[in-house]
Amino acid sequence: MNHASLEPKPFQPAHYKWWERGIIYQIYPRSFVDTNADGVGDLLGIRSRLDYLQWLGVDAIWISPIFTSPMADFGYDISNYTDIDPVFGTLDEFDALIADAHGRGLKVILDYVPNHTSDRHPWFVESRSSRNSAKREWYIWRDPAPDGGPPNNWLSNFGGRAWEWDEKTGQYYYHAFLKEQPDLNWRNLEVQKAMLDVLRFWLDRGVDGFRVDVMHHIVKDPEFRDNPVNLEWRPGMPPYRELLTTYTSDLPEVQDIVQKMRSALDEYDERMMVGEIYLPVERLIAYYGASGKGAHLPFNFQLIGLPWKARDIANAIERYEALLPSYAWPNWVLGNHDKPRIATRVGAAQARVAAMLLLTLRGTPTMYYGDEIGMHNVPIPGEQVQDPYEKNVPGLGLGRDPERTPMQWSGEEHAGFTTGRPWLPPAEDFESVNVAVERKSPNSILNLYHRLIQLRRAEPALSVGDSAPLPAEEDLMAYVRKAHERSLLIVLNLGARARNFNMADLKCRGSILLSTHVDRGPEEIVDELELRGDEGVVIELL
Ligand code: GLC
Ligand code: CA
Repeated sequence: MNHASLEPKPFQPAHYKWWERGIIYQIYPRSFVDTNADGVGDLLGIRSRLDYLQWLGVDAIWISPIFTSPMADFGYDISNYTDIDPVFGTLDEFDALIADAHGRGLKVILDYVPNHTSDRHPWFVESRSSRNSAKREWYIWRDPAPDGGPPNNWLSNFGGRAWEWDEKTGQYYYHAFLKEQPDLNWRNLEVQKAMLDVLRFWLDRGVDGFRVDVMHHIVKDPEFRDNPVNLEWRPGMPPYRELLTTYTSDLPEVQDIVQKMRSALDEYDERMMVGEIYLPVERLIAYYGASGKGAHLPFNFQLIGLPWKARDIANAIERYEALLPSYAWPNWVLGNHDKPRIATRVGAAQARVAAMLLLTLRGTPTMYYGDEIGMHNVPIPGEQVQDPYEKNVPGLGLGRDPERTPMQWSGEEHAGFTTGRPWLPPAEDFESVNVAVERKSPNSILNLYHRLIQLRRAEPALSVGDSAPLPAEEDLMAYVRKAHERSLLIVLNLGARARNFNMADLKCRGSILLSTHVDRGPEEIVDELELRGDEGVVIELL
């Protein structure tokens, strides 16, 4: 029973998979909790806060990479896929974390980074040792162009050429990211076997799923053709976007690999994979695979990329819903460790509206740690910059440190994240923006998140129900979620001005279940709705 059924299901959460009805919470482990005062978060830290996550009400945690790594890209450069980096802990500590999480009904999703290894991975060390090495073909090696330069024009996502010259063997190797992250050659069957076995290693340990890093990048053009120039590129945009990625991303062959990953997961019960894929929606949906045999959830990043405008977002939701194949389950994301935080993108007041949107849309929500307390991007002074992307391409605001700062637990020193020196500084406002303070304040954004999550868990209409858009104007968005005979109306005001929403067409009255301001309740029966600026409401239709 691993595949999505084509039969319509009754709107009962029990008929749905955990990853359909549940809420995913992303933890960036370096920044969550540090228990040994080295300034970097660790597995014991995560384990020590499972109480909090349970109180918050999420169903699954996705932990960004915790595997052995030289940390050139903070764990996305892996030198041993089947062990834990000492900075995060040990395999025993990982087993204890999983057991503890499972004991509380929490699923655990790990990050799987198949596109590239670290340049210190023994596979690459062997591959680069000689042209005749048994693992030469495990990576992407090419002769120089006739002029001695790189084999083609491909660019690295982190700035500069994607080809690194290897003096000793007289060839270039390809790296879509840092030169410390050589790309694996997934056309090689031994690579496929070794990497699929990595999945099995963690599945055997009880892991419930994987977030698959840059899934669309995994296979490259066999003829190594030059990528075409992107005529829309302008200075200030990321340098790698000077070229289209026609020959380096989203090749048809990627789908075969995704299917193989899926088959490995399907050897186990109810495991899932979510793909990190930045592509237009029409291409994104291909990653569900033919009849749903691909990724269970190809990440839908539209709420990160779109302007924060009611019409743009409402249209995008409708379009996405219309394009989804019948077997595909939707999902939504507001932020992650690579993108500016939602509170910074839309402001503190709208971050609450965004929370209501995320947790009332049809489809699995993925939250990013700290967004639930309203953390914002933290400007990082030059000498404290950690992110290699910022170091390679400085000054364009591309660096990702600002959204990776320590979780703000309390008003204690370093926001209660560490008693040592934190690897990135906490936000300057941590004394007021933190878990301890906000838990005590009934209308904090944290309590709003908590209430929204409780509501989503209690209402099948929200977790698994149908969704239908309603006409709305200007800054308003409205939709109805429905399960059995119960209908919930959601109206969101994406602007700062008060607005009225006309309920006359609905021919019914409603009782307010929750406002983003957390100051209206079911005793308020409405047949016409007045929304304050930056307010969203969930209404039970009577
Ligand atoms: C993904 C990760 C990002 C990382 C990159 C290279 O986009 O989310 O953090 O730097 O892949 O692995
Ligand atoms: Ca630590």
